Amino acid sequence: MSLDDFERYPLTFGPSPIHQLPRLTEHLGGATIWAKREDVNSGLAYGGNKTRKLEYIIPDALAQGADTLVSIGGYQSNHTRQVAAVAAKIGMKAVLVQEKWVDWPDSVNDRVGNILLSRIMGAEVRLDPAGFDIGIRDSWTKALEDVKARGGKPYGIPAGASEHKFGGLGFANWAYEVEKQEQELGVFFDTIIVCTVTGSTHAGMIAGFAGQDRPRKVIGIDASATLEKTREQVARIARHTANLIGLERELADHEIVVLEGWAGDLYGIPVQSTLDAIRLSGSLEGMIIDPVYEGKSMAGLIDLVRSGVIPQDSNVLYAHLGGQQALNAYSALFTH
Ligand SMILES: Cc1ncc(COP(=O)(O)O)c(C=O)c1O
Repeated sequence: MSLDDFERYPLTFGPSPIHQLPRLTEHLGGATIWAKREDVNSGLAYGGNKTRKLEYIIPDALAQGADTLVSIGGYQSNHTRQVAAVAAKIGMKAVLVQEKWVDWPDSVNDRVGNILLSRIMGAEVRLDPAGFDIGIRDSWTKALEDVKARGGKPYGIPAGASEHKFGGLGFANWAYEVEKQEQELGVFFDTIIVCTVTGSTHAGMIAGFAGQDRPRKVIGIDASATLEKTREQVARIARHTANLIGLERELADHEIVVLEGWAGDLYGIPVQSTLDAIRLSGSLEGMIIDPVYEGKSMAGLIDLVRSGVIPQDSNVLYAHLGGQQALNAYSALFTH
């Protein structure tokens, strides 16, 4: 088996762009920094990393004759917004369980940004008071049953599309895409920085890169603040995905690297390093990142480059996975 044996339903514009971040590079005074932009990968409600994952999941939903995508996330979930967009695009319904993953006091947290867009796209949004958890939830199982009870054909997509048999394929494909773009650009990215929460973005990358000739470091920066759960989930999904795409060896433990230090104490709550990273990336490069995910992985990148843990002669590829829409619920942090 190889990745080509899996059907892909195109939802993205094509390969996502890669470009240098020269002013950030100069400012940090270390390795050369590049970004690959999943935040502009699709015309479907701004796209993002889940849109790539869904390219390999939607064929299964269509094959099963589903008419409703059922998924779950926090109030400001980027994932559920992308599920709503894809459902609209392919003429399905979407039922979204939106849990209170973040105890964030902004009075419009359940109204602006991602959740607003999901409502505009016609999704049935169900607010649920449950807290953060990347595992399978009863509320999601109940939503699936409800769709059946009213005569629909639900197709379940778990949080972040991670605990899905094909959840890692989208980013295994990303790894192949990077290899092709490297040939065009004449550069080799020895270090990849990626934000990790539900795990299949990072896991897919690990599996995809593992089959390539030249080894590289794929560094996950934890933004879940439930490190052990996330690490376990990344390892499991990476090994499963590697099997699916026919990697002819076992992944070693040292290939699965999830670093802690930038998540703060809680998922969804930015800390000072997150806010500094958001302002730095915005003011030096005009590149907008969010306070839940990419601000945390960028904070990791900044420290690893500045401290020389990533060597000066490295080419670092920062995976920008999208998510800026949530900024609308965090406006109080940027009033001066
Ligand atoms: C913008 C953004 N970055 C990073 C992630 C983390 O990806 P994953 O859940 O696959 O670990 C997510 C989703 O959880 C996201 O929406």
